Amino acid sequence: MAENRTISFLQFLNRLVFLVTCLILFVGCAGKETAVIKIGIAGPMTGDQSKMGMDFRNGVQLAVEEWNAKGGVLGKPVQMLVEDDQRDPKQAVSVANKLVKSGVAGVIGHFNSSCSIPASRVYAEAKIPMITPASTNPQLTDQGLPMVFRVCGRDDQQGKVAADFAVENLKARRIAVLHDKTTYGQGLADEFKRALAGRAEVVYYGSIIQGDRDFRAVLTTLKAKKPDLYFFGGIYPDAGLLARQAKELGLTAPMLSGDGTIDVKFLEIAGPAAEGTSLTFSPDPAKIPTAKAFLEAYHKKFGPHGPYSIYAYDATYVLLSAIQEAGTTDGRKVSEMIRARIHQGALGTIRFDAKGDVTQAPYVVWITKGGKFEELR
Ligand code: ALA
Repeated sequence: MAENRTISFLQFLNRLVFLVTCLILFVGCAGKETAVIKIGIAGPMTGDQSKMGMDFRNGVQLAVEEWNAKGGVLGKPVQMLVEDDQRDPKQAVSVANKLVKSGVAGVIGHFNSSCSIPASRVYAEAKIPMITPASTNPQLTDQGLPMVFRVCGRDDQQGKVAADFAVENLKARRIAVLHDKTTYGQGLADEFKRALAGRAEVVYYGSIIQGDRDFRAVLTTLKAKKPDLYFFGGIYPDAGLLARQAKELGLTAPMLSGDGTIDVKFLEIAGPAAEGTSLTFSPDPAKIPTAKAFLEAYHKKFGPHGPYSIYAYDATYVLLSAIQEAGTTDGRKVSEMIRARIHQGALGTIRFDAKGDVTQAPYVVWITKGGKFEELR
């Protein structure tokens, strides 16, 4: 009898342990699955490119607040997890791992192609969709990762627009090409050079180190080659200094660059030397009717928008609408939905091709006039 009682007590204990474990697992899973929809935002939130990181964050925040005001996604509030990659590829991989561990349903980021490419492999491994607002290097989507998307164009597209402008509009015949040795900067400089296709002579091809403060040595060598124009593949902090120091050295050839330099910080750093420089970027949102509501809301909340704020905003809508319509946060299903849907964004209609690139990337030229960037028509 005593033995029987002991067995039943042990059985009771076993059952109790089992029930409590189930309860803990259930509550744990339920908490993870149902409380909120987390999305990651990754970019340079500190350092010399932090302006771009903040532009991203603000664009995403505006979109998230609008969704949450309408009841969230799948009936749950959306929570943003912001991570700083400090424009460093290693840090980008580290924050990507952190976001994956946090259980994000998708990531908006990164800014630099040199960060987006290695981070994309982390997200792909975890089956988490990633949409970059700004990384333009072709390799990103050429890797063939089915959950990687970009809402911006590619450097093979903007490099061609820049080359055509250099040859046909600026009539440059002797061109110097400079880059910052990053995936984006060198990649864009090479696309530009390729697209010149023998229409102009490349009299100088060289590089600078991103973040250096003194570019006079390279500019002196470049100046000696007497170029009509110099192209720079890189980002605004270096571009601003290059333009200023080139002017100080008496280089009269104008600078032409890409999307990485269109920021008010470029104008501030370059000062009067910014005048007459040109770059390739997408059309001015102020002239896009569908962007009106975004611009009004953004300006009211944060002040002037940055070049990529609207891209971050649209990327967030693409991700959240796809989750909503897929009815799940399963990364594979969400990615299929991103690819299948026709998205109506602030930038207009957005569609993705099989690679995850947008089907239309209308690059145009902008020039600096009267201390302001102006789209050239
Ligand atoms: N378009 C730039 C890049 O890809 C910002 O790095």
